[in-house]
Amino acid sequence: MKKEQSPQALLFLLLIHATLDQGQSDYAPYFYDNGASSKNGNMALFSISEDTAVGTQVYVLNGTDPEGDPVRYGLTFEKGSKEYFRVDSKSGNVSLIQELDREKQDEISVLVSITDGRNKVVETVRVFVTDANDEAPEFQNPPFIVAVSEDTAAGSSIYRVQAVDRDMGSGGSVSYFLQVVVIRCQTSPFSKFTIDGHSGILRIKPGETLDYETTPTHFVTVVAKDGGGKYKGRNQVLSSTATITVNVIDAQDMPPSFIGTPYFGYIYEVSVPGSEIITVSARDGDQGNPNPIFYSILNGKGSGTMSVVHPFDVLMVFHLPGSDGVFEYVHSCFTRTCQITKLHKFLFSICYGVPVIKLHCSFLSSQLLAVEIDTPERFSATADIVINLLDTNDNVPKFTSEYYIARIPENSAGGSSVATVTANDPDSGPWGEVKYTIYGSGSDL
Ligand SMILES: *[C@@H]1O[C@H](CO)[C@@H](O)[C@H](O)[C@H]1NC(C)=O
Ligand SMILES: *[C@@H]1O[C@H](CO)[C@@H](O)[C@H](O)[C@H]1NC(C)=O
Repeated sequence: MKKEQSPQALLFLLLIHATLDQGQSDYAPYFYDNGASSKNGNMALFSISEDTAVGTQVYVLNGTDPEGDPVRYGLTFEKGSKEYFRVDSKSGNVSLIQELDREKQDEISVLVSITDGRNKVVETVRVFVTDANDEAPEFQNPPFIVAVSEDTAAGSSIYRVQAVDRDMGSGGSVSYFLQVVVIRCQTSPFSKFTIDGHSGILRIKPGETLDYETTPTHFVTVVAKDGGGKYKGRNQVLSSTATITVNVIDAQDMPPSFIGTPYFGYIYEVSVPGSEIITVSARDGDQGNPNPIFYSILNGKGSGTMSVVHPFDVLMVFHLPGSDGVFEYVHSCFTRTCQITKLHKFLFSICYGVPVIKLHCSFLSSQLLAVEIDTPERFSATADIVINLLDTNDNVPKFTSEYYIARIPENSAGGSSVATVTANDPDSGPWGEVKYTIYGSGSDL
C-alpha cells in the first residue's frame, strides 16, 4: 500500500483545516444592554430632550466582539425619515445633527449596527423625544371682538378667550390675566374688566359700568401664561398676549337735548295765522342709536299733534328734524297769567284778521318739551322759549274829544292859551307819539 502524500497536498489540507477552525469560532459582535437610563449601549428606549443643542454628543454605542476583534458602529434611519444622529464608527459616539421638536415628532426609529469586519448585526431601536418648555400659549380663533350693550350688569361675563400650550406638564398649563396699563396716572380702562385666570372668561368688574358716551370701544389686553418648565437648563415661563376689542353698544340711557338754546322768536302784529315763528330741534343723547323725538309745548292745551285752531290760541309751527313733516301745535292762552290774557286779544286778532287796538303784552314765554316716546323711560328735555310780540303802526291817533269849543276874549295878547287839545295813539314807541298842527281859515292868526 502506498502511503504517501505530496507535501503540497498536505499543506493544502492544513490550510483548509485552519480556515474551518477559525470559521467555527467566529461569533458575531453584540451591543451591551446597559438599560434605558444609560447613556451607552444600543440606544434602545433612549430619551433625549427636545431642547438639546445640535452638535451635542448624546450617546455612545457600546458593544463588543466575542473574539475581541475591534468593532465598528453604524447608524441609519428608515427611508423618508429625517436624519437626527450621526455616529463616529470607531468610538460609537453619537451626536445630534438635527433640531428636535417633540411637538412635531416625539419618537424616532433608529437602525444601529455593529460589525467586527465579518459579521454585521443591525437592530431597530426607538428613541424618545422628551418635552422642554419651548412652546408659548397660543390664542385660539382670533381676532377677539365682542359687542356689549352699555347697560350690561356689572359682573356679567361677556367673552371667553382660550389659549392652548402644546407643552406637557406645567409648561403646558395656561392661566390668564389682564395687562394693566397706567396711562398718564389715569386709571386704565381695563380696570373695568376682570378675567378668570383659569377659564379665560372676561367679565365686567363688579361695581363698574360701561358707558357708550364716554368710551365706545375698549381694548383689553389679555395675557396667557404657562406654568413654566425647563428649557436649556433653566426654568422658562412663556406667555403671549392678545387684544379683546369690546365695542360698547349704545343703550337708551341718555335724554335728548335741545340744540341752539336759548330760543327767541318774533311775531309781528300783522302776522298771518300759521306763520312760522321759530324752528326748534332736539337731539337724542344716544347718538349711536337715536330715537325719534316728539315736541310739545308745556302748559298747552292737550298734547301731541292737533290741527284744530281755536280762536284764542296761538299757532306755532315746528319742524321735525330729519323729516319733511311739519306739525302744528295749538297753544292755549287761557291758562296764562294776566299778561297773557291781554295777549290773547292780540292773538285773537291774528286768527280773525281784525286790527288790534292796543298791544298790552310784548312777549310770550313758554316751555318746550322734547320726548322720546319710543322708549319705555320716555327720556325728555325741556327748553325755554320767548316769543317777542312786535308792534306795527296800525293805529290812528284819536283826539280825546270829537270837537273843542274855545272862546277868546278880544284883544288878547299874542301867545295866550286858547284851548288844550289831546290825542292818543295806542301804538308803542315812536308809532305812538302824537304831533299837533293847525290848519283851516284863521290858522295863520
Ligand atoms: C460599555 O459597557 C460596558 C458594560 O456595561 C462597560 O463596562 C463599559 O464601560 C462601557 N463602555 C463605554 C465606553 O461606556
Ligand atoms: C467620545 O466621547 C467621549 C466622551 O463620552 C470622549 O471622551 C471621546 O473623546 C469621544 N471620542 C470621539 C472620537 O469623539
